[in-house]
Amino acid sequence: MRNIKLFDPLQSAKTKYLFFTGKGGVGKTSIACATAVALADAGQKVLLVSTDPASNLQDVFGLALNDKGSEIKEVPGLVVANLDPLAAAAEYRESVIGPYRGKLPESAIQNMEEQLSGSCTVEIAAFNEFSNFLTDSRKAENYDHILFDTAPTGHTLRMLQLPSAWSGFISESKHGASCLGQLSGLENKKAVYKKAAETLADGSQTTLILVTRPEMLNDK
Ligand SMILES: Nc1ncnc2c1ncn2[C@@H]1O[C@H](COP(=O)(O)OP(=O)(O)O)[C@@H](O)[C@H]1O
Ligand SMILES: [Mg+2]
Repeated sequence: MRNIKLFDPLQSAKTKYLFFTGKGGVGKTSIACATAVALADAGQKVLLVSTDPASNLQDVFGLALNDKGSEIKEVPGLVVANLDPLAAAAEYRESVIGPYRGKLPESAIQNMEEQLSGSCTVEIAAFNEFSNFLTDSRKAENYDHILFDTAPTGHTLRMLQLPSAWSGFISESKHGASCLGQLSGLENKKAVYKKAAETLADGSQTTLILVTRPEMLNDK
């Protein structure tokens, strides 16, 4: 048997932010949970966040999770949160439309609701929550490690490259030809997205762990 080095969560988790990514069904959630539990057992304060719309973290911990974080009583020091992109989008939509209710005609409100119901809104709302977790200084103080159990790679890569795409978009265009234009308040978010992108790119803060299914190659 060749010399196989087993994955050691405590050796791999050197940075504050850890991303677990890879194809669907390869074991991202299992490895992310095992790492989170190992770190908490070693006395670290750990926050595990799922950004996968098809997350099964709730099944793993047998607990209904929310986007604020729930303590896992069997594992002191571990808090788990589940970002629900649809709920985040609904919250975002209401924050934009709410102030106009009762002030604008019903047809105008309906029009706004329709405009803010597309997949762009969902993606932006999900990314928004995700970057809040990545840049919130209180969370950074409260936790030694923040782990992200992410959606299959393509989706995650898209999410990770959004900050640079958006900051370009925000500086070049203030009005809305694309789907981003319909959203107010993005300009205010620029600093958050910039910090998120910087944190992601900084190897002393962030590690990306690519989870794959091990297969023996034929030695010939
Ligand atoms: N090392 C492993 N050996 C065998 N089965 C595994 C292993 N890791 C995960 N599994 C199983 O594979 C399935 C998918 O794992 P999961 O962690 O949910 O993957 P992902 O989050 O990448 O979709 C689950 O049924 C899980 O129990
Ligand atoms: Mg998973």
